[in-house]
Amino acid sequence: MTIPITLSRLREMKTRAEKIACLTAYDASFAHVLDDAGVDVILVGDSLGMVIQGHKTTVPVTMEDMVYHSQAVAKGNETALLMVDMPFMACPTVDLALVNATRLMQEGGAQVVKLEGSGVQLEIVTELARRSIPVCAHLGLQPQSVHKIGGYRVQGRVANAAKAMLASARALEAAGADLLLLECVPEALATEITQAVTVPVIGIGAGVNCDGQVLVLHDILGVTAGKPPRFSKDFMVGAGSIAQAVALYVAEVRAGTFPDREHWFS
Ligand code: KIV
Repeated sequence: MTIPITLSRLREMKTRAEKIACLTAYDASFAHVLDDAGVDVILVGDSLGMVIQGHKTTVPVTMEDMVYHSQAVAKGNETALLMVDMPFMACPTVDLALVNATRLMQEGGAQVVKLEGSGVQLEIVTELARRSIPVCAHLGLQPQSVHKIGGYRVQGRVANAAKAMLASARALEAAGADLLLLECVPEALATEITQAVTVPVIGIGAGVNCDGQVLVLHDILGVTAGKPPRFSKDFMVGAGSIAQAVALYVAEVRAGTFPDREHWFS
């Protein structure tokens, strides 16, 4: 029997420099494939708004959607740690954040909730952590803010922004975040943040030195509509099946051969 992945196991992996493999899933069948392939963390991402529902952004995704897809993924998963996104405006106040995180855990089977944001989320992360709700704080590119920032761009390139992101990472760890996720962050800054905090840091478009990697399942299977993001890789190329492609992703993350230079930003 395989031992379920826990937050302490992820912390141990960071200490031992063993890379963490994370992928998104939105239903029971794919959750089963990922779990079998040895994925450590399955993320029910609000990217489901784009890859499953066909929206242009993640903004229309609701709490009902997240609960529904988490329930399905939880049924197909046995071993991986199940992380679930708090969708757009699920945390407008501490009280609502607590209600919504509780729903994701009690109804959806989430073991960790992920939320985008830094400064304004500190109080929320503190309160979730005080109530033993495991939290992953998502920094760098925050797709829920796409209309405010005006597009999907690399974050933290200028000195002030890089300094602020490093300070946010430290503050979120101090507030009780159990994991950090860095999206579209220059490789050098992601490396600095990963070394500056004791909690595991999972990257997407953030270079090879993060403690782990995450990608959107549909991107690695080459079925994303339109141009795939530059930081992604189609693992179906050369694979004989979906299971093989997922296993190849896990193997490359563990070996540190994914991501390669072409998948990160400087
Ligand atoms: O929603 C999602 O799938 C995510 C990943 C892109 C990290 O947040």
